[in-house]
Amino acid sequence: MRQIIIAIDGYAATGKSTTARGVAEALNYLHIDSGAMYRAVAWYLWQRGVRTVQPDLLPTQLEDLALHLERQGREMAIFVNGRLLQEELRRPEISRFASEVSAVPWVRERLIAEQRKLGCRGGIVMDGRDIGTVVFPNAELKVFMQAELSVRVERRYQELLARGIVVDKKTILHELKERDYRDETRATSPLRKAPDMYVLDTTHLTISGQIAQVVKWAKELIYASTPS
Ligand code: DC
Repeated sequence: MRQIIIAIDGYAATGKSTTARGVAEALNYLHIDSGAMYRAVAWYLWQRGVRTVQPDLLPTQLEDLALHLERQGREMAIFVNGRLLQEELRRPEISRFASEVSAVPWVRERLIAEQRKLGCRGGIVMDGRDIGTVVFPNAELKVFMQAELSVRVERRYQELLARGIVVDKKTILHELKERDYRDETRATSPLRKAPDMYVLDTTHLTISGQIAQVVKWAKELIYASTPS
């Protein structure tokens, strides 16, 4: 059976990673969360006391960064200088900072090269902002996820609450708007809905509904391209 590349892009808090994880499980593919890689770089800088992104300083500030990804089951575990990073990547200050760090072309070039290496053999579901447009423009299945802003705010609120982080909804709304704006307007690989993407609006969908829809599209493509 052909092992395809599934690219899932879209706005923050539309359920990209959850959907990608579920699709990878259903197809027995590897899930790669490209956002976690940007978060890992942001976390490293934050730990070193950096609070403002100055693109010219980044090559020096990141000189000693050793970012390592290791396959664990269907997921990629992320290590920074030997330390496994999990929950710390999800903190609100890291979300904010990752959005700034990810706008720097020098950082993107490096992470994109890494993402291409990880996915080049197919059998992957990668989620992010530029996977179908830049990282794997030839991906067999490209999905663009969107949802109404109020629904995204509520989901992010619940997600943070489940992690024991309380942030008021107004702050979440403001931050999501800011991130959307930054993701869509940055000069290098902005978030863009390309004409060859399947649009998945998750406003009224459950998680299992989202996963089922992407798996259905994937299977149609896999069977259509597998000689019988
Ligand atoms: O998907 P996420 O929220 O974990 O992503 C964290 C940040 O990284 C987000 O602000 C957008 C950015 N990002 C990106 O620019 N390109 C990607 N392929 C993935 C994430």
